[in-house]
Amino acid sequence: MKVIVVKNASELGKQAFDLLAKAVDEGAKTLGLATGSSPVELYQEMVASQLDFSQMTSVNLDEYVGLSPENPQSYHYFMNQHLFQYKPFKQSYLPDGQAKDIQAECGRYNQILADNPVDLQVLGIGQNGHIAFNEPGTPFDSVTHEVALTESTIKANARFFDSIDDVPKSAICMGIANIMAAKEIVLLAKGESKAKAIKAMVEGPVTTDVPASILQKHPHVTVIADQAAASLL
Ligand code: GLP
Repeated sequence: MKVIVVKNASELGKQAFDLLAKAVDEGAKTLGLATGSSPVELYQEMVASQLDFSQMTSVNLDEYVGLSPENPQSYHYFMNQHLFQYKPFKQSYLPDGQAKDIQAECGRYNQILADNPVDLQVLGIGQNGHIAFNEPGTPFDSVTHEVALTESTIKANARFFDSIDDVPKSAICMGIANIMAAKEIVLLAKGESKAKAIKAMVEGPVTTDVPASILQKHPHVTVIADQAAASLL
């Protein structure tokens, strides 16, 4: 696991963009994308760039159950706002949070991932070490599944909603095995609230208590963290 410590968020976006541009230059066809505040500066760099994604595919990590793509809190909406409206891909996949049959939707998404192997996966990390919505305790061999969000994740994400009661209670999310299948992974972290999770991920034992710790076993991971997020390393 390579760790790059940067001065600030804009530097983080630039470094992440350089890695992404290199992967695209080397022939990447499918990008794995993430939501949350961590990748925002990367998406700004992508939007400002000359890169053309119109022949590429994107797959996102997760979507809330019950939110439509038009709902401003949905991850569909987030991706359109930050990236897709400016830089369309040939095909962009996210789980369908409104699917009638969530089990079937998880199966469909696993098939999409099998058909579109991810060349570069962008990841954030939760304060409790979760990746996507794979909370502590999630098996490392998990594939796309419905996840009940933990109290701490609901609290952490409440800032994006009018009230904590509006935060969905579950999500459809790629499993840890799906994430580990990516050829290359770039994990982004900003701020002191991530410092403990970053330390546990990089220096701690590989344990399902810290889902991100499994990344120690992946052959090509770069962590880009600002000084606050890297402060306990
Ligand atoms: C949510 C997302 C994760 C993300 C995490 C951290 O729980 N499902 O994919 O990594 O939040 O978000 P942020 O980047 O806003 O700190």
